[in-house]
Amino acid sequence: MLKKHINWGIIGLGKIANKFASDINLSDTATLYGVASRNSEKAKIFKQRYNSIKYFNSYEELVKSPEIDIVYVATPHVFHFENTMMCLKNGKSVLCEKPLGMDSNEVEIMLKEAKSRNLFLMEGIWTRFIPATEKLIEILYSNVIGDVNSIRADFGFRAEYNPDSRVFNKRLGGGSLLDIGIYPIYLSLLVLGYPLEISAMARFAETGVDSFCAMLFNYQNSAKAILESTTEADTPIEAYIYGSKGHIKLHRRFHHSEKISLYLNGKPKQVFELNYTGEGYYHEIEEVNNCLVNGEIESGKLPLSTSLKLINIIDLVKQKIGLSYI
Ligand SMILES: NC(=O)c1ccc[n+]([C@@H]2O[C@H](COP(=O)([O-])OP(=O)(O)OC[C@H]3O[C@@H](n4cnc5c(N)ncnc54)[C@H](OP(=O)(O)O)[C@@H]3O)[C@@H](O)[C@H]2O)c1
Repeated sequence: MLKKHINWGIIGLGKIANKFASDINLSDTATLYGVASRNSEKAKIFKQRYNSIKYFNSYEELVKSPEIDIVYVATPHVFHFENTMMCLKNGKSVLCEKPLGMDSNEVEIMLKEAKSRNLFLMEGIWTRFIPATEKLIEILYSNVIGDVNSIRADFGFRAEYNPDSRVFNKRLGGGSLLDIGIYPIYLSLLVLGYPLEISAMARFAETGVDSFCAMLFNYQNSAKAILESTTEADTPIEAYIYGSKGHIKLHRRFHHSEKISLYLNGKPKQVFELNYTGEGYYHEIEEVNNCLVNGEIESGKLPLSTSLKLINIIDLVKQKIGLSYI
């Protein structure tokens, strides 16, 4: 029998888990049932702050709880594979933070495991579900800007150098490409599909992870994507999509933009104000709840085939810039 109400669990109670928990509390179809940390005291405080029904003393305990329908994996990238596999093997559906795995090999194994167990799995690209992305897709489908011939998107922030932090530590999967470069790459995939050719150049931090990555993708119809990620500087974090008849600007910070401008024949045509609910994760949570309530094992809006393409592109960029986590 299909459920009408979804019980969530969260493992890894860091920065993103706080925002996500706050948005679960905005949903009418979901309950924050349980939270787990490597540190029980931290889990207890988190439980109280976000009105979770329970806290657990370990990730393992949480995934064995029969009441929990889906686990949100919010640990550093390098643990996504083992944490997600543990959830799936214990019969839990999973929403796993981006990137879904460290490479295509991990993602393929995760996909197979979820499918063979008939469990829901999705990568946490929450930006796919916000109102601005829905509007962007609508504008592109209307063909008002004509054939898309190029995209420019950047994502950069100045991070204080700390070799132990998630952003710089190689053992935690650090680097700008995996952490934030994934957003411009996802936008290019959404708008232009899978590229024909990939060029990329990078600069590296002392820890051996990329602190700057410039990418140029070429497509079958000769369209181009010019993409950038960096942890060295605060960049505009804007995206532009150019077509034969006009262009679209996704205002700062483009990946969770609340404003889109449409230009036709070089002149401003329309501005769309598109506020999201809560921290923005609410829309992703609603999508997952709907999928689970309807017995679907993947989201039609963010299917696993897209996650596989995304990590394939990232792997190719890693090869081009000489970045390896092994
Ligand atoms: N969707 C988004 O907008 C967004 C934004 C930021 C990050 N993310 C993604 O979410 C993931 C977590 O990012 P975050 O910024 O929340 O990181 P964070 O603040 O460092 O939190 C990560 C949590 O993972 C757990 N963890 C387990 N093993 C760990 C280890 N060996 N070292 C450090 N932490 C460990 C810790 O939770 P416990 O101590 O409770 O076990 C920690 O608090 C990343 O994969 C990132 O790409 C997504």
